[in-house]
Amino acid sequence: TTVYLKDYTPFGYLVDSVSLTFDLVPNATRVTARIAFRPNPEAQDRTFFLHGEGLKLIGAQIDGQDVKPELTDQGLTCDVPDGPFLWESEVEIDPANNTALEGLYMSNGMYCTQCEAEGFRKITFYPDRPDVMSTFTVRIYGDLPVMLSNGNPSDSGDGWVEWTDPWPKPAYLFALVAGDLVAHSDRFTTASGQEVDLNLWVRPGDEHKCAFGMEALKKSMRWDEEVYGREYDLDVFNIVAVDDFNMGAMENKGLNIFNSAAVLASPDTSTDGNFERIEAIIAHEYFHNWTGNRITCRDWFQLCLKEGLTVFRDSQFTSDLRSAPVKRISDVIDLRARQFPEDNGPLAHPVRPESFQEINNFYTATVYEKGAEVIGMLKRLVGDAAYAEALDLYFARHDGQACTIEDWLKVFEDVTGRDLAQFKRWYSQAGTPRVAVEERWAEGTYTLTLTQSTPPTPDQPDKAPQVIPVAVGLLGPNGDEVRETQLLELTEERQSFTFEGLAAKPVPSILRGFSAPVILDRETTTEERAFLLAHDTDPFNRWEAGRALAQHTLLDMIVNGTPPEPAYLDGIQSVLRDEALDPAYRALMLGLPGQSELAATLHERGHTPDPMAIWQAVETLRQTMAEHLQDLLPRLHAEAQVDAPYRPDAEQSGKRALGSAVLGLINRIDGGVLAAEEYGKADNMTLQLSALGALIRAGKGAGQLAAFYDQWKDDRLVIDKWFGLQVSLAEPADTVKVAVHLTRHDDFNWKNPNRFRAVLGALAMNHAGFHHESGAGYSLLADWLLRLDPVNPQTTARMCAPFQTWKRYDAKRQEMIAEQLDRIAAAPGLSRDTTEMISRIRGA
Ligand code: ARG
Ligand code: ZN
Repeated sequence: TTVYLKDYTPFGYLVDSVSLTFDLVPNATRVTARIAFRPNPEAQDRTFFLHGEGLKLIGAQIDGQDVKPELTDQGLTCDVPDGPFLWESEVEIDPANNTALEGLYMSNGMYCTQCEAEGFRKITFYPDRPDVMSTFTVRIYGDLPVMLSNGNPSDSGDGWVEWTDPWPKPAYLFALVAGDLVAHSDRFTTASGQEVDLNLWVRPGDEHKCAFGMEALKKSMRWDEEVYGREYDLDVFNIVAVDDFNMGAMENKGLNIFNSAAVLASPDTSTDGNFERIEAIIAHEYFHNWTGNRITCRDWFQLCLKEGLTVFRDSQFTSDLRSAPVKRISDVIDLRARQFPEDNGPLAHPVRPESFQEINNFYTATVYEKGAEVIGMLKRLVGDAAYAEALDLYFARHDGQACTIEDWLKVFEDVTGRDLAQFKRWYSQAGTPRVAVEERWAEGTYTLTLTQSTPPTPDQPDKAPQVIPVAVGLLGPNGDEVRETQLLELTEERQSFTFEGLAAKPVPSILRGFSAPVILDRETTTEERAFLLAHDTDPFNRWEAGRALAQHTLLDMIVNGTPPEPAYLDGIQSVLRDEALDPAYRALMLGLPGQSELAATLHERGHTPDPMAIWQAVETLRQTMAEHLQDLLPRLHAEAQVDAPYRPDAEQSGKRALGSAVLGLINRIDGGVLAAEEYGKADNMTLQLSALGALIRAGKGAGQLAAFYDQWKDDRLVIDKWFGLQVSLAEPADTVKVAVHLTRHDDFNWKNPNRFRAVLGALAMNHAGFHHESGAGYSLLADWLLRLDPVNPQTTARMCAPFQTWKRYDAKRQEMIAEQLDRIAAAPGLSRDTTEMISRIRGA
């Protein structure tokens, strides 16, 4: 069944308080609930329906009298009194056999929960919707040394503990954890002087991986006070690391639960990239305390209200702590790799979707990352001061409420007096807008004419013009900036902007800072791109110029068999020579567009992408770059060395990123000699993994791979890397073979989402391997989706996404993919999650 945004109605009852008790037993946990309901004056419909799935009802009472509710597989209904009443129920659940990792489940002997979006209904009967908010008291009976829930500890006795959360919250923010855990503890004093106990709970043996996460937490808490004026509001803040988790992490009030991969870090076992990601996720979940928890969503269609804003906030945090240009470029690389394919294929949906079958399928790059881009545009349009004022008003006006995008936009309208009706289309129209550029030069006046259009997406054939903020600067012929960045507001389909009083025809730098999530369609010359690569003052657009040159040369190589473009090679060489440029930035300059992105661009331009030809072109260009830059590489390699003790900060990570990119090139010349040397002396995971990667690419890593396994066989997170690396770096013809081989490894615990993704996710990311002409990549992924679906629908459904691009490819590949999609769709008892994904991907 499909749920629609337009059908929203409030629940017939308000909840004044919830009191839960848990009697923890692996196969037969008893949950009792005492819930104080009263009629909701705002609601018309008085149907008393409580969600509940997979619950064994032991008994229920209303005001102390036994009742016999009517049960379905979705929940129950019951006759209730006209006024306030107390609902009590007792249910039995089976956490030990909960492999879906939703509701209350067990992971390595530890109890934990995941309730967002609709998992609380697998714990007890409840109005499991985010607009029903209440305070919770939770008593946990069990024999485990650590038993946690939301809020503050309020009482305890022999074999039980009680937690009280004074802040009203929706059920999706409920959490419980119990296990044999140890804490890495610290304290934080809030700006107003409140003391907060901080604990990062892990399994014994992981204590040495906590320090970084704790520091990140304290930095996040301080940052949110300083930048958004938001303080923490409980006496304790607990974070727990869990090995089996469907997503990255969860912002449960006062008790964040993390995939261990998203919180545990040590220099020996984590890469610089892991550290940066962990810092961002800790911040993200912490920031949800205000943007998500204190102000939550009215319904799940409003998911971007909390996710887009919180992603935007965590990216601001990372920009402040590290390098803003590097963060911006990385975010755009990620947006193009994950969100653009979604927005330009069968899974396209608005940032605020209007219907769904399974909400878990909408925790997407569009809701999160495009949702964050929309906030970035809004901030740019209204300015920093008005943004800050609007946010203050948002927190003041809506604290304690369950809100909508309308509420969010209204605070901006009230603060600025601006009408945001057209801007709101960013929330309702799916698809990536394209902006075409024409220019005219006459007598000192330069005119830019911008034309926007958004292609049709499922259910949205016609698109209206959006408000597109286009940041533009102009450079003079000698490379000086003759017009600083200014913001053009493109609101019509076609609009012209003039710049007067110029001495010579300028070179435009358009969409600086990637000021809008659009595709710029601009026919321009290699000379002009090379000029911008050399002179643009905007770091994003300077990088973008290099990217455009790389893309241009690759497409030319693929389509016309042209050799690599000298202007690209020379331009990159000059950038790399410039020691004034941040090493991290230069490392980004050495990157190439992804093969899947190249396939998308070829498809857009009317070509049928051949994955093997794309792979070959990238290989050729890399080899040519290695040769062209050969003389410079040793100097860069020396520059990239770090003498100081390991720190995962921007400065050192940047150097190592450059070192790794340079090693990749040297590797193509020396066939693995330097890589072997580096592997031998690597004293942190970043260097160890980059050297191992280079060795594998050189076809020489067998011994080191085996040694790596022996060294790390007891560390799950490192072994995930070992699995993933082999599949990612396999040559196209070997990829499936390597993946199959790894799925037969004793350590391939496919029920663990991290391990499943390490192999099957890496397969899907290896473009030429996954799309190998044999079709074996498609059938292997489908085999495993079919196997995982009955066990864990959520992770299965997410892993269907690699098929979303199928219409780009040739008829033969389309046919092979369609066959797999049909095979999955035909599986008896296929989950709602996977059914929805496959049918959307398959299309009408
Ligand atoms: N709210 C979490 C976050 O973004 C995501 C949890 C989503 N989990 C899920 N099963 N849908 O931080
Ligand atoms: Zn989030």
